[in-house]
Amino acid sequence: GGGSHAVENVDFSFDGPFGSYDVNQLQRGLQIYTEVCAACHGLKFVPLRTLGDEGGPHLPEEQVIEYSKQFEVFDADLDDFRAATPVDHFPASALDTAPDLSLMAKKRAAFHGPYGLGINQLMKGTGGAEYISALMHGYTGEEKEQAGVTFYENHYFPGGWISMAPPLYDEAVEFADGHSNSVEDMAHDVAAFLMWTAEPKLGARKQAGFAAVIFLTILSVMLYLTNKRIWATAK
Ligand code: HEM
Repeated sequence: GGGSHAVENVDFSFDGPFGSYDVNQLQRGLQIYTEVCAACHGLKFVPLRTLGDEGGPHLPEEQVIEYSKQFEVFDADLDDFRAATPVDHFPASALDTAPDLSLMAKKRAAFHGPYGLGINQLMKGTGGAEYISALMHGYTGEEKEQAGVTFYENHYFPGGWISMAPPLYDEAVEFADGHSNSVEDMAHDVAAFLMWTAEPKLGARKQAGFAAVIFLTILSVMLYLTNKRIWATAK
């Protein structure tokens, strides 16, 4: 980031070496994305079928099929448009100037170091999700017009002025289970969802990493003991 305010850490469930996504939070984030962000943004690298994945939003198969139907895709074989199915991807951005959000949570970083060691990233993540959620509530309410485009002051956007109008307001989305829909809570939910789109295999990666660390620890102990044994008579 490079905004005038430093992005603050949020305790996300997926932080840290053992973190994983919160299924309910991902489902709320998907709803916010669908009802608000998708009007302008796209997720063109995300296959709709992955909405059913374990470790992701984990929607039942019928719901994934039902969800997919709302989008239209161009089918080259039919030479016509048809309703999307789970094998298709989310649509691309509907608005030219709105960037695709598939990988945004990994393109942006808020936490670095210290001293290039990456300790912050290990414990708190790189801060892409924090940046997105800060952006949602970083608006000051100031606007200006430049070359026919309206810019909105936002403390977390590099340069301080963004052409995206504040997308979230309190109660913008209604959750079936009555979960809180304050701007701050929705900002966290949609940021968590966009972290998942950018890094859908985070859980598997962390598990493999943990197994590797255990394996290397045991290997080190064994090599140490072997080494002692080999040189035992050479004292
Ligand atoms: C840019 C998120 C809704 C239009 C962005 C960026 C993010 C984002 C992360 C990139 C900022 C950067 O470059 O660092 C979201 C989320 C939304 C949402 C999470 C829903 C909660 C919308 C809507 C519109 C929109 C509804 C259109 C009405 C734009 C535009 C930009 C942008 C035009 C480019 C801004 C610039 O570079 O000045 N959005 N957005 N967004 N968004 Fe959204």
